[in-house]
Amino acid sequence: MADPKFDFATRAIHAGASPDPVTGARSTPIYQTTAYVFDDADHAASLFNLQTFGYIYSRLTNPTVAVLEERLASLEGGRAAVCAASGHAAQLLAFFSIMEPGDDFIASRHLYGGSVTQFTHAFRKFGWTCKFVDPSDPANFRDAIGHRTKAIFCEVLANPGGSIVDIEPIAEIARNASIPLIVDNTLATPFLCRPFDWGADVIVHSTTKFLSGHGNAMGGAIVESGRFDWFGAKGKFPSMTEPDPAYHGLRFAETFGDFGYSMKTRAVGLRDLGPTMAPLNAFLTITGIETLHLRMERHVRNAQAVAEFLERHPAVGWVSYAGLESSPYRQLALKYLPLGPGSVFTFGLRGGYAAGVALVERLELFSHLANIGDTRSLVIHPASTTHRQLTAEQQVAAGAGPDTIRLSIGLESADDLIRDLERALRDLPG
Ligand SMILES: Cc1ncc(COP(=O)(O)O)c(C=O)c1O
Repeated sequence: MADPKFDFATRAIHAGASPDPVTGARSTPIYQTTAYVFDDADHAASLFNLQTFGYIYSRLTNPTVAVLEERLASLEGGRAAVCAASGHAAQLLAFFSIMEPGDDFIASRHLYGGSVTQFTHAFRKFGWTCKFVDPSDPANFRDAIGHRTKAIFCEVLANPGGSIVDIEPIAEIARNASIPLIVDNTLATPFLCRPFDWGADVIVHSTTKFLSGHGNAMGGAIVESGRFDWFGAKGKFPSMTEPDPAYHGLRFAETFGDFGYSMKTRAVGLRDLGPTMAPLNAFLTITGIETLHLRMERHVRNAQAVAEFLERHPAVGWVSYAGLESSPYRQLALKYLPLGPGSVFTFGLRGGYAAGVALVERLELFSHLANIGDTRSLVIHPASTTHRQLTAEQQVAAGAGPDTIRLSIGLESADDLIRDLERALRDLPG
């Protein structure tokens, strides 16, 4: 049941799932199996030829993971989805389906530090280059497009800076260049932002964060809008439009039409690279998504209260939360995230690096760790942890300078969180 006529809350609970046909189990079972028995030799052959949909081997498809895939496609308003072992695996697969050695893509500079590292170093080994641009002027994306450019990538609500990217004009630039806009919607989730409504072609997620929501399941997903015209791109995407020798000359965009990209990502990307989501993690993420709408409302409300408290505090130099009137991203937040700009944001301590290290050690209710999107409130000093691989210039460009603290506000009482911060901020060094 993925009918888009149902409201978000209904789809968050029901899309993709129905009672188990054999046992009647109401909750989606964890299909902890590696492989699936074929009906007969013809059935096996047609599955391997991609002529019949069904289950062969859990590196490619699994019934528990399939429920999550259908649910995510429904919540994002997309055509199809493919899950992966982590958000980083999803990013790798998203590009693997469309890039050739020697190709490049353009990414917003305002990205999760791990993505900057993945795009700069690991992707180079595939022969892919990432050109980073300042997203504050959409024209920067257009100016960076070259004849081997195959995609534009951005985070709509960026980690860690809480900045918001104006994706509608960027989608138009991508469309005019016949390349897909890939949006990482991890921090917003489909409850707060729907990138397909603004012209994105592909959405990637780290489901590890708010979608699973409880800090207990790694995962990633790639969702396809079904609207990108691969043949209209006139030879730019041979892996989508040319005969695939590994599938008897099948052309994915032709054979599968508006879900050809997902099929390519599964049948070639997952098959050959292998970063499969575990069924247990799919189960935990399905369960998490059933309360996504309730959790995100509370995350946003708590984040607003904490950001307002920090903005008034004398030890705090600045707060980057798009829910504040002072934020330069306020108007973009109202456009793209009308229900609230998430619950991950940064602020700066007047005491700089030393104050940052002291604060994370003093906080008691906030856990000092490298994650976001948990029921629990989390804190990190990016310059000494997640962003330490970046140069000083890249740190500042990514919104993670030496004075910066990142918070992921959880679902506790906002008053208790503020009391914990108030105590830890007293007489900081620096
Ligand atoms: C915005 C964003 N995208 C992608 C990732 C990578 O996800 P994962 O850790 O699940 O590989 C993260 C991780 O923090 C993230 O914050």
